Amino acid sequence: MPQPNDRKRTVAVVGATGAVGEVVLRLLAERDFPVGELRPLASQRSAGTTVSFAGRDVPVAEATPDAFEGVDFAFFAATGSLSKTLAPEVAKRGGVAIDKSSTWRLDDQVPLVVPEINPDDLEKHRGIVSCPNCTTIGFVMALEPIRRAAGVRSVVVTTLQAVSGSGKPGLEELARQKQELARGDAPTTDFYPEPIADNALPLCESFLESGYSTEEVKLLHETRKIMPLPDVDVSMTCVRVPVPVGHSATMLVETERPLSPEDARAALAAFPGVEVMDDPQANVFPTARHVEGRDEVLVGRVRRDLGSDRLWLWQVSDNLRKGAATNAIQIAEEMIRRGLK
Ligand SMILES: NC(=O)c1ccc[n+]([C@@H]2O[C@H](COP(=O)([O-])OP(=O)(O)OC[C@H]3O[C@@H](n4cnc5c(N)ncnc54)[C@H](OP(=O)(O)O)[C@@H]3O)[C@@H](O)[C@H]2O)c1
Repeated sequence: MPQPNDRKRTVAVVGATGAVGEVVLRLLAERDFPVGELRPLASQRSAGTTVSFAGRDVPVAEATPDAFEGVDFAFFAATGSLSKTLAPEVAKRGGVAIDKSSTWRLDDQVPLVVPEINPDDLEKHRGIVSCPNCTTIGFVMALEPIRRAAGVRSVVVTTLQAVSGSGKPGLEELARQKQELARGDAPTTDFYPEPIADNALPLCESFLESGYSTEEVKLLHETRKIMPLPDVDVSMTCVRVPVPVGHSATMLVETERPLSPEDARAALAAFPGVEVMDDPQANVFPTARHVEGRDEVLVGRVRRDLGSDRLWLWQVSDNLRKGAATNAIQIAEEMIRRGLK
């Protein structure tokens, strides 16, 4: 007999023409999400164009409050200001907005969820659920197994972030600058303040008066909200690198109790959604190229710090999949499983 859980859902994808939106559409089909009606939404610029979903072309409409009438899940992958105005319109109409922007992440009324880590927080939802930043997701996925094994006191992290983390404008800027360099021309800058091709920029998003970037501050506050570690110290530098897809990070972790690299590897390997790829003698370590198109967070280079008891990790994840679309769809799947929608 069909269960209420089996019914098809009406699903909106806001930002369906963007880098994350395209992956959300692909994964909804790939994961066999129970989509009844699909409503791809974007700006007025894209209204009337089509996007591909499960082998067919579906027309894109403009994202307006009325577009959410009867919607069960609305995946937001557009702009923060759009999420601010439209996510409450979804909730008001009885649907659930799952937001990829930073707008709602630190709101006390809004759960910030990585399903492998804090799925119970979904029970408190009031129609809006927030997805962490793409950098935070890979980071906490690698940190949580260590926390469960030995507690975590502090982490020093440096990220190496792909240009697709800035959406299509980042991808387009890298592609154009590579062509310019190949022609022997100087790279022109349109989106990033310095050339990203053949370069590395210690800036992700924009700088605050404190000298930290907005991306760096998110990593600290989101980690504290997701993990039961409200006081954990996270010291970070976020760097944009000329990689199309896949965020990497080095992490130096201070644990509460001693943890050997072998036990850390075992804890990481046993955690759902994490895969260990770590055999230095055979030159085996994860890279952005290994992770593109995969949902797992890959971890390697697990080793004891030479000057302390701390542990080094190298972690890589696909920012468009687990860092964005996969995590959002997992949230919806978990809500269905729990009968929350
Ligand atoms: N890229 C990542 O790795 C990543 C990871 C985690 C979270 N995020 C977040 O996900 C969101 C989308 O990022 P993205 O990388 O996919 O960006 P993107 O490639 O630039 O795409 C932006 C999307 O938003 C739509 N949009 C822009 N202004 C709009 C408006 N006024 N009304 C309706 N739709 C509008 C665009 O539609 P048009 O085509 O009509 O302009 C497009 O579909 C952002 O909040 C970003 O912070 C991104």
